[in-house]
Amino acid sequence: MEIFIDSAKIEEVKEAVDLGIVDGVTTNPTWIAASGKKFPDVINEIYDLIKKPINVQVTATNYLKILSQARKISQLNEKIIVKIPAIPEGIKAIGTLSQEGIRTNLTLVCSPMQAFLAAKLGANYVSPFVGRLDKISLDGSEIIKKIRTIFDNYDYKTKILVAGPLSPLGALEGALIGADAVTMKLDILKRLYDHPLTDRGLKNFLLDWKNANLSEIE
Ligand code: E4P
Repeated sequence: MEIFIDSAKIEEVKEAVDLGIVDGVTTNPTWIAASGKKFPDVINEIYDLIKKPINVQVTATNYLKILSQARKISQLNEKIIVKIPAIPEGIKAIGTLSQEGIRTNLTLVCSPMQAFLAAKLGANYVSPFVGRLDKISLDGSEIIKKIRTIFDNYDYKTKILVAGPLSPLGALEGALIGADAVTMKLDILKRLYDHPLTDRGLKNFLLDWKNANLSEIE
């Protein structure tokens, strides 16, 4: 399962990349605004840091303007994946862009049929916003299961990118269902590693070694 860091803050992207497990970056207009940097400077900085897929979202909502922005964004570097909102004009644009060889990610996916339409038109990724669904008591993992079933029924190659889980549990559920990727904030990414029994066990191992007056392994 691919792991993306969901941020446009250089220091967060760097910390995530330093973990050695990150396959790319997802940004959105809110993250770009929060970066405090100009566009496309911030994307160029991220690219300089990590030569891996970088998701960058259009801000247009009209078919022709989405196409124009997507073509410009895709020219920033060879790792760009263009994020396009799950609206009729956006899904139509995905059909055109996929024929041009521009990689796309349908974002703000909140229903399985939105994902189905984008996959039918050749989207590379779809991003179901599981965290936002969970926040209103709709089970985000159920959306992932339904999308997985639809894509498998029709052998769609579009990848399911679990977006914005509220905790490591969302990433776990995505992995169990067979999602292809997950994107999460840095604090959640770092919590993937956590278990108190691991910490306690390691502490006791090292204490037993020390108490036996054994020398350090050189
Ligand atoms: C993920 O690709 C989106 O950019 C978005 O950040 C999802 O997470 P959120 O719902 O916490 O914003």
